[in-house]
Amino acid sequence: MNITLKPISEKIGQQIINQDDKSILEIDREKIINLFNEYGVLLFRGFEANTEIFREFSNLFSTDFLDYAGGAFNRRVINGDQTILSVNDFQIEIKLHGEMYYQKHIPLMLWFFCANPAAKDGETTVCDGRHFFAEISNSTKELFSQKKLKFTVSMNKEQWQQKYKIDAVNQLQEMCKKNNTHLTVYEDQSILLEYICPVVIPSRCGKYQVFINSLLPTMQLNPDVLRFDDDSPIPDELMKELTEIAEKITTNISWQKGDILMIDNTRIMHGRRAFTDEKRDIYIRLCSPNFQF
Ligand SMILES: [Fe+2]
Repeated sequence: MNITLKPISEKIGQQIINQDDKSILEIDREKIINLFNEYGVLLFRGFEANTEIFREFSNLFSTDFLDYAGGAFNRRVINGDQTILSVNDFQIEIKLHGEMYYQKHIPLMLWFFCANPAAKDGETTVCDGRHFFAEISNSTKELFSQKKLKFTVSMNKEQWQQKYKIDAVNQLQEMCKKNNTHLTVYEDQSILLEYICPVVIPSRCGKYQVFINSLLPTMQLNPDVLRFDDDSPIPDELMKELTEIAEKITTNISWQKGDILMIDNTRIMHGRRAFTDEKRDIYIRLCSPNFQF
């Protein structure tokens, strides 16, 4: 089967475009894997797609599906499948981030499916974390080599039970241990969670530095939970530098119905532009590749 390729933008990714009404399930799997490994983000456009085809196609490349316990947003389960979630809880902008970088156990790969695009706005944004790192000033690179991020969250008993969908403290302890999260439990079973992670990570091949984390949206939505690991605050000036870089090198993906997006969550950050159309409906799957990458 012939496929037509076109960059998503001059900065990032490849689009795989349907030419002669072929099924997305007929595309050569190896070809997709090679493109994914090279570009880190692929957009499949113009294929006939519904939730079932999306599930079947993404299953061909995926393993270890995660649910979204502990995330910042409410996500709706689609067609009774816990591994397909909608992401439309809020309509505000979500700045660039790696998915679930506020904990150790992250999905290595993400899938998005456009069930219904917004009439206007609501683009998904993407940016290569290597490219982002290259744009950072030397003094900021130096800062990130010395300081890590520290997320600190306190919750009462009811809050953590609801958020993590568990009842008992020992389940919480187990979860925190798996996620390298420091847990303090108080007498009334309210808790304090502390998680420390780097701002910049080495690429899987070890050759590059990658800026990928939850810094931008956390400072945007929930700044009180974030400091450096020496308890110093994240300076406004630093946020200004990072926000300017983000705007300069972000690519907007204007959704078309049936689009499928495949993202390497160890390298490519994503986000979303604000929207008002309540009919915008984008699904997400969080998983790991079932192939060498
Ligand atoms: Fe996300």
